[in-house]
Amino acid sequence: MNILVTGGAGFIGSNFVRHMLAAHSDYRIINLDKLTYAGNLENLTEIEKDPRYAFEHGDICDRSRVQMCVVRYEIDAIVHFAAESHVDRSIMGAAEFVRTNAVGTQVLLDVAREMKIRRFVQVSTDEVYGSLGTEGAFTETTPLHPNSPYSASKASADMLALAYHHTFGFPVVITRCSNNYGPYQFPEKLIPLMIANALADKPLPVYGDGMNVRDWLHVSDHCRAIDRVLHDGTIGEVYNIGGNNEKPNLEIIRLILRHLNKPESLITFVKDRPGHDRRYAIDATHIRKTLGWTPSYTFERGIAETIDWYVEHAEWWKRIVSGEYMKYYRALYENR
Ligand code: NAD
Ligand code: TYD
Repeated sequence: MNILVTGGAGFIGSNFVRHMLAAHSDYRIINLDKLTYAGNLENLTEIEKDPRYAFEHGDICDRSRVQMCVVRYEIDAIVHFAAESHVDRSIMGAAEFVRTNAVGTQVLLDVAREMKIRRFVQVSTDEVYGSLGTEGAFTETTPLHPNSPYSASKASADMLALAYHHTFGFPVVITRCSNNYGPYQFPEKLIPLMIANALADKPLPVYGDGMNVRDWLHVSDHCRAIDRVLHDGTIGEVYNIGGNNEKPNLEIIRLILRHLNKPESLITFVKDRPGHDRRYAIDATHIRKTLGWTPSYTFERGIAETIDWYVEHAEWWKRIVSGEYMKYYRALYENR
């Protein structure tokens, strides 16, 4: 099988490329990525010389570039990760989110339909469902209620994908996963940001009261789930992916500090994120029952390995947290 992975130089995409090459010896993986601030070919150095892998630099909004990739590599399936992915950046400016996440997905869907692609996996997020109170969990039939520009742009993409299935019988499957953590996550996100700041003895900026809850899943369990959906998911269906692992942000931050032997005095409460979703939790019964997927990582093991990975790969994230990133960091956190 020849698979076009979009956004394969990002956090989850790069883990997925590695996973697929390891799990399927006869597959060819083509990575189409624009290399935005979040795309980093260093995430793929281990496999870049693998003859079953090819990188194509390009924008998913560029129809002829997408078309060229599909034709040249005789693509059978598309797994679509490429996105602007950070909520805080979407609050600072939504234009790129609408362009890449909504319009880019429409361009991909159009090319894929014309080229008779056999399967299209739309990698989405639990954030399209909005925020939960203290009880309950999102199921696949929970109404969409996106609250941030990021989640609104992802919900638009999901709805387009489902509309293409309904209207044209296009073979799309959607996955909606909870928050991922693991190696190669860009240090703007909670867990790597807190690890990097703690290692540098810098303040850890906690939004609001620190009691917002996310349902954390190790990225390799997410990749295994997408692999299952790609092969055996039912066309037109949505699959929620999550590990029953709800944690308030403060609990995770304290765990990171303990693991690194750093003082809790680094914790600094800052002004809340506007429109901050209070709680996410996933009911993953559907994928567990129909595709037999279960997470393999416990959170204790996953978070310990992840913290150690960032300690051992300081040169990877130190290169990122300079330059453009410093400008972003100052704009978001200075005088907050
Ligand atoms: P990321 O920001 O780390 O990576 C995004 C990648 O997409 C980068 O390599 C970037 O260069 C590329 N990209 C951006 N715009 C592009 C464009 N126009 N054309 C081609 N490439 C482009 O994101 P991530 O955390 O790896 O998330 C990947 C996907 O998974 C996203 O669709 C996101 O919505 C979804 N998701 C993420 C999480 C999470 O916790 N990170 C959870 C659920 C779902
Ligand atoms: P994030 O990693 O941005 O993921 P998302 O908002 O998409 O779930 O944030 C996870 C949680 O951590 C969220 O409740 C916001 C909070 N957070 C902070 O408290 N401080 C920070 O500096 C960041 C980046 C996030």
